[in-house]
Amino acid sequence: MSDQCPYQFDLMNPRKMSEGVPFEALKTLREKCPVARQDATEYTGEFWAITKREDLDFVSKNPALFSSSANMAHPQPGGEDPESAAIMRQLIINMDPPGHVQYRKVVKAAFTVRAVDALEPMMREYAKEIVDKIAPKGKCEFVSEVAAEMPLFVICALTEMPIEKRQRFSELVDIMIGMDDPEMDVTPDSGRMAAAEIFGIAMELAAKHKANPKQGSVLDALLNGVVEGEALTEMEFCSFFLILIAGGVETTRTATNHGMRLLIEHPEEMQKLVDDPALIPGAVEEILRFHPSFAYMQRTATEDVRIGEMDVKQGDIVRMYYPSVNRDADVFGADAEEFKVTRMQQSPDLKTQHRTFGIGQHFCLGSHLARKELTVMFEELIPRIRNPKLEGAPRNLVSSFIPGIKEMHISFDAE
Ligand code: HEM
Repeated sequence: MSDQCPYQFDLMNPRKMSEGVPFEALKTLREKCPVARQDATEYTGEFWAITKREDLDFVSKNPALFSSSANMAHPQPGGEDPESAAIMRQLIINMDPPGHVQYRKVVKAAFTVRAVDALEPMMREYAKEIVDKIAPKGKCEFVSEVAAEMPLFVICALTEMPIEKRQRFSELVDIMIGMDDPEMDVTPDSGRMAAAEIFGIAMELAAKHKANPKQGSVLDALLNGVVEGEALTEMEFCSFFLILIAGGVETTRTATNHGMRLLIEHPEEMQKLVDDPALIPGAVEEILRFHPSFAYMQRTATEDVRIGEMDVKQGDIVRMYYPSVNRDADVFGADAEEFKVTRMQQSPDLKTQHRTFGIGQHFCLGSHLARKELTVMFEELIPRIRNPKLEGAPRNLVSSFIPGIKEMHISFDAE
């Protein structure tokens, strides 16, 4: 194969990725072979790894050339199982134009800045409660006691789900994301059953909402959603519900976990935030840039097309590596590999420069919500969780797609 790159890294090996995002390997690709043909392995067929931002933007902004639907935008729970695939194809993240645009409008209506901002007082109360519980103990298991809590709370609030049921949501999300992790023991059957259970919950909540409608809620926007003059079908409504849960919970949890880990590993950066909490929103942006919650999203070329200096053939799979493009020195400067909570001061447009939320037609619909959750959580944590330390190495999720943390014990000065 003439276009093959001499630098081959086992990027789709979930075990290897669970040792940490291979930033060095990605840097080599970015510098030597930015559109890199990677060999088939036991985990994947051949694919192109995109590691520079300009190439990622080209792919992501051209959905007619690069389909999200052909092989879907990311690996699916249930794998090749045709029934699961049929469900997953209904998620907007796996749709192409022109249909995608119409469906996106429905979810967009549910996530207005106003609707999200209205949640802030509730988020802050909840963040305070989370910190109140751990602060006197001087230690906690950060993932379950802190990071998982806020996104679950928010998703319950958005979907009018009783907060007491959040634990079940959390288990269902673990099934959706844990397909490569032997500890999670996910099979095509359990993946399918988790999706079916989420659909059942969605229908139940919809029935309750119809009996007692709350205007302006996300559920309300979805239930009143119209595509080409028609209300959403039950299946479409349930699919939207599924992506809000699957897309909204693990991502924010992962960002919170890595944010805390990064601050612990860089005490001098943490101190800057203690001294000046007004820096926290900028620090959240740097956390998002430095360690994205997804390793990649993928597309399939709809025709022969040139990316950078490479000829990609129709049907080829292209994977866009967010952790790499976010450290592209041509965009972020010579210190792109450094974690700096004050980066926003040197790069005021940091928010629009990194690609943690993607770019183009599929740009994350929950970005404002995620930023708000993270900012509120760190604003409540940082002044009270003083001198935090890692108690042993965090345990990572086994996944080539989500560089998540399953368990992270920390200690700090008890209040
Ligand atoms: C740190 C947190 C988050 C990260 C890193 C993240 C990342 C992303 C990325 C990279 C995409 C683009 C996918 C592509 O181009 O193929 C995306 C799409 C999406 N995200 Fe997020 N996301 C986060 C939080 C959320 C939240 C909280 C929600 C909602 C509750 C959400 C809902 C969605 C939806 C609905 C899409 C599909 C948009 C479309 O296909 O048009 N995300 N997200």
